[in-house]
Amino acid sequence: MRTILAGLALCSAIASLTISLVTNVALAAEPSPELIASGKALVEAGDCAGCHTADPAKPFAGGKRIDTPFGAIYAPNLTPDRDTGIGAWTDADFTRALRTGIAPDGSNYYPAFPYPYFTRMTKDDTLAIRAYLGTLAPVASRNKPPELRWPFGYRGLMRLWNAMYFKPGLFEPDQTRSAAWNRGGYLVTGLGHCGACHTPKNYFGADRQAQALSGNEVGGWYAPRLDGAARTGLKSWSEADITEYLQSGRNAKSHAGGPMAEVVVNSTSKMSDADVRAIAVYLKSLPPARRETITTPPDEAEMKAGQAVYAKLCVACHEADGTGSPRIYPPLPGNALLQSINPSSTLRIILDGAYTVTTPRAPNTGEMPAYAKQLSDGEIAAVTNYIRNSWGNAGLVVTPAQVAKARKEK
Ligand code: HEC
Ligand code: HEC
Ligand code: HEC
Repeated sequence: MRTILAGLALCSAIASLTISLVTNVALAAEPSPELIASGKALVEAGDCAGCHTADPAKPFAGGKRIDTPFGAIYAPNLTPDRDTGIGAWTDADFTRALRTGIAPDGSNYYPAFPYPYFTRMTKDDTLAIRAYLGTLAPVASRNKPPELRWPFGYRGLMRLWNAMYFKPGLFEPDQTRSAAWNRGGYLVTGLGHCGACHTPKNYFGADRQAQALSGNEVGGWYAPRLDGAARTGLKSWSEADITEYLQSGRNAKSHAGGPMAEVVVNSTSKMSDADVRAIAVYLKSLPPARRETITTPPDEAEMKAGQAVYAKLCVACHEADGTGSPRIYPPLPGNALLQSINPSSTLRIILDGAYTVTTPRAPNTGEMPAYAKQLSDGEIAAVTNYIRNSWGNAGLVVTPAQVAKARKEK
């Protein structure tokens, strides 16, 4: 009898051990559909695909070239392929990479990987991202080494960079602010890495923290200030204006072009209404990080030359008084991006033209013609100066040499 009882006890012990092993394995191998869905939303908010996809047929398989002032770097393969992707990584490896910029082998990543922002992310969010990435089809695609100028090829240098400029740590909620403000701050300063483009950089490519989101040139475009500056910032935009721009790529004040059009299509247009509104709440709370630049208007001859070009080529769509037609032809009076200290985005759009970005909320397209061939550097400078300084606008004078430089940026 005693042996039978002992046998039963042993059996049930083994049985419960087996059950716990099985459930553990099942838990590790199969994250819940809710976790995967939340990971997918986070991956969109972080626009991981924007950098980690070179070939749209192989999303997240890496290979996309990212140009930096220090040379080129290729985004790696994030699919679960065990040899060339991150299939063999542990969850801890993954969280450490995102939050500290350190690879499983202990080497440092370059901040072209926005870990200085992702460090603000909670561990739960990194694990949800990992769970979603784990559901992708594995793609065999070997990572390419960076092509950086001497001495930046030495990853060890990034240890020094981190010591000087990297502030690891979670987003610190401000209890005196609303839940929406805190959510917006988490997205803007963390996962959404808006500062990667919108914050001015120092000589070593690190954010100038005191001037956060006060405007920065990126790849031949200008990512304008997102703080509360009156003329060139978001003071004249309401929360609803910001929400509409991020959700549909346009509003009654401006249209998203260049790199921002990609951010809208891949990321902000896919965010939940609550998240986009949270971003708007956070941005509207930012005081101007620095004063507006004082400008002197162009001389009369330059304004006349610019007006002549405008009257001939631009009035058909933008109207003589610049008001255009909201959401079709963006208005030029009071336009913050147009008056920015740096005219790069305006020059890009006049030189190359643009197709209005389409999103599910604003599916109709529109077109701005390209004028690079038709107009000289002097004519483009003149019409730019004219629209930057008419109808109450004020913008620094642009020179033909700046136009010539912008032509080469393409
Ligand atoms: C602005 C471009 C950019 C964005 C956006 C971006 N990454 Fe990356 N990522 C990179 C680059 C570049 C590297 C390689 C850095 C290096 O080699 O030092 C990298 C490296 C990584 C690595 C290390 C992979 C390996 O094989 O060592 C992981 C993991 C990663 N990124 C995950 C993500 C996730 C998750 C997101 C979205 C939340 C994301 N990245 C968004 C550019 C980006
Ligand atoms: C890859 C670079 C990049 C990233 C990342 C980025 N932006 Fe932008 N953003 C730009 C550029 C460039 C423009 C100017 C667009 C144009 O020329 O039409 C812009 C324009 C804007 C504008 C319009 C401002 C105005 O005055 O016209 C808003 C608002 C904005 N971005 C918000 C954001 C937010 C919020 C984030 C983060 C979720 C973000 N951006 C991330 C590059 C970027
Ligand atoms: C055929 C109509 C058309 C003509 C002609 C035209 N534009 Fe545009 N313009 C547009 C459209 C459409 C957009 C929005 C493009 C987008 O969605 O990115 C635009 C955008 C712009 C912007 C960016 C404004 C913003 O906030 O996004 C500027 C600056 C501009 N145009 C200046 C000019 C100038 C200067 C000329 C003449 C040399 C001109 N345009 C001629 C249709 C036109």
